[in-house]
Amino acid sequence: MTDLQQDTSLEFIASNIDILGTLLPEQLLKPQVGIVCGSGLSTLAASFRERVEVPYSSLKGFGTSTVPGHKSALAFGLLGPADGVPVVAMLGRFHAYEGHSLSTVVYPVRVMARLGVKNLIITNAAGSLDPGLPVGTIVSIRDHLALPNLTGFNPLLGPAKPQYPRFLPLSTAYSHSLRRALFHAAHQLALPASAVGEGTYAWVSGPTYESPAEGRFLRAAGASVVGMSTVPEVLAAREEGVEVCVLSLVTNFVVIPDRYRSVREEVDAELAGTPLPPSPQVEVSHEEVLAIGKEKSEVMRALVEKTIELIGKG
Ligand code: 6GU
Repeated sequence: MTDLQQDTSLEFIASNIDILGTLLPEQLLKPQVGIVCGSGLSTLAASFRERVEVPYSSLKGFGTSTVPGHKSALAFGLLGPADGVPVVAMLGRFHAYEGHSLSTVVYPVRVMARLGVKNLIITNAAGSLDPGLPVGTIVSIRDHLALPNLTGFNPLLGPAKPQYPRFLPLSTAYSHSLRRALFHAAHQLALPASAVGEGTYAWVSGPTYESPAEGRFLRAAGASVVGMSTVPEVLAAREEGVEVCVLSLVTNFVVIPDRYRSVREEVDAELAGTPLPPSPQVEVSHEEVLAIGKEKSEVMRALVEKTIELIGKG
């Protein structure tokens, strides 16, 4: 077993519950809501009360996130009014592109489900394929397009297990009632209508960003945003019977030139003494992704918190 292939067996899940029992006060031990913090969004757990952080390294079967902007800990705490809702947040997640197996990627979701999480709010940073969803928009995901899943890269591949459905339906994967709670939360926070959109998330394995042709392909296929995470966690959560809400923060536009400049024309024009204006060379950067995450982290936090308040303990 290499470093990045963890033992994610049921026994390990059970032993983590024992470990957490020794580290957490009673009131935090049965979180009702889970949060997965995407790139630059670990501050989503900043306002937890009675907060206790447990590094992944003190738990069994967890990997270590190797991506800048990701921590590696579970944060437990209380959110919302009165005595609060017990919650748990993943500060940092695992991605297939880091070399983690998909069973490692989804393992923390299974641990959260066993701890008692009923509703999972997953956040991520994503590139927009839709001019109607500009940079800074928070997108409520209503569906996904996962080419890796369709072609044999799916965290649920494997022998049937008695506790899980064999053929998991995905038509209701993105909880209608949680999405309603989210838009009610946005309204209560008086966010402008343009701040929160709706769309379909395309999952790609990464670590490369899409080529322009791939971006155009995903857009033509109906995706609104694209990213390298989330869908594996959604599948595992649904398999565990957990309700899911996904928020993508648009950190950049996917570079999709509508028309390529012909380099032949460019060189010919230069040779004829009538050079064309320089052609822009645009690239996405991870720094840009983190910067937008930081800029929008307060709005994301408020939205996630208000949504959890509206979901309540149920
Ligand atoms: Cl443009 N593509 C992918 N795959 N993931 C992203 C992204 C783009 N921007 C942020 N995350």
